Amino acid sequence: MRGWVTTTRSSGKIAFVVLRDGTGSLQAVLSKKDVSEAAWDAYGKLTQETSVAVTGAVRADPRAPGGVELTASDLRVLGPSHEFPITPKEHGTAFLFEHRHLWLRSRRQVAIARVRHEAIQAIRDFFYERGFTLVDTPILTGAIGEHAGTLFATDYFDLGKAYLAQTGQLYVEAAAAALGKVYCFGPTFRAEKSKTRRHLTEFWMVEPEVAWSDSNDNMQLQEEFVAYIVGRCVERRKPELAELERDLAPLARVVAPFPRISYTEAVEKLKGLGGDIEWGRDIGGDAETLLAKQFDRPVFVYNYPRKVKAFYMKENPADPRTVLNNDLLAPEGYGEIIGGSQREDDYDKLLGRIREEQLPEGAYGWYLDLRKYGTFVHSGFGLGVERTVAWICGIPHIREAIAFPRTLYKLWP
Ligand code: 4AD
Ligand code: MG
Repeated sequence: MRGWVTTTRSSGKIAFVVLRDGTGSLQAVLSKKDVSEAAWDAYGKLTQETSVAVTGAVRADPRAPGGVELTASDLRVLGPSHEFPITPKEHGTAFLFEHRHLWLRSRRQVAIARVRHEAIQAIRDFFYERGFTLVDTPILTGAIGEHAGTLFATDYFDLGKAYLAQTGQLYVEAAAAALGKVYCFGPTFRAEKSKTRRHLTEFWMVEPEVAWSDSNDNMQLQEEFVAYIVGRCVERRKPELAELERDLAPLARVVAPFPRISYTEAVEKLKGLGGDIEWGRDIGGDAETLLAKQFDRPVFVYNYPRKVKAFYMKENPADPRTVLNNDLLAPEGYGEIIGGSQREDDYDKLLGRIREEQLPEGAYGWYLDLRKYGTFVHSGFGLGVERTVAWICGIPHIREAIAFPRTLYKLWP
């Protein structure tokens, strides 16, 4: 077996080494009388994270981690490790993030990585099983997808500025008219100056888009989707969630349907709870948490004021001050994990909104074309992977939900 040393201990003539090889942990036992002097000396030099090759015979041992123990006949050092910076003692968060490339090896970080992997596989399986087609959308874009205020721009040859994609949505809308049910899944970028535990500057977002689907259908798809992802992680990642000491009871309640309240109802509720909110204002992070606390599973808040939401959302025919959209708020203080909406499919209304937001009209000609050549009712949403993984894992900050987080203060490692 080849692996890295986690811990060693010895009682004179018998020595124990716990190794991890990337797939799991194993204890090797060396007995001085059964191994060469070189092997016994090599044992004496082992420190945390030394890489080693151990030869021997495995035998079942129910008390051992992994259920087997290795009786070593030989041990060789492959790569020494002097003073590994991350020891079993407590370290500060800043220190750990500076050593993120090494911190990834720790048991908790390995568990989070595997839950993330499971969630992503569940996302892909869900859409595959339901006949969605994956469409990869560009990362270098010419149009603003969400907010002009959070763009990363770069010079693009003779064509002016290119922006790192804030969303793939506008492109999957075009693809939905070709393929019906589609999704894109990739990194997205926001030059967020916020230092909250919910914001990264680079995060992964999955964005389905469905032709002939309205806002109600959209919410139904979201609840089935979120329940599926959570269910898969709980079912297949029990050891990892146990390593993270995650209470599974709140996750077991994540079953469709989820409660739905309108923005207007949410404002009333928040006022009753002493929240700082007026009709017309966006619901901030603290208010979201307060609101979500009133429910034991994720909750939809739908039909927000037009003024606080993106230009592409469809005007609500029953109350044109609002749009046909929804956020999905996770329980336990994790806040918004999904933003979704029915899209404005009326050419003139959409053009009006583009002008109102003072977006460069020329950049949206192709997007307006979708309303010019066979416009269609359609809806979609975006789920943030890191927020979802942080919630499922029960970790306080989304920075730990991605291997190499990017924030206002973090570009290395
Ligand atoms: O609500 P948002 O901005 O929606 C969109 O981008 C739409 N175009 C989606 C669509 O309808 N196709 O972002 C969607 C989700 C949020 O609910 C959140 O989970 C995540 O993306 N998100 C972030 N995650 C981490 N850091 C950030 N800075 C994030 N901004 C959004
Ligand atoms: Mg949003």
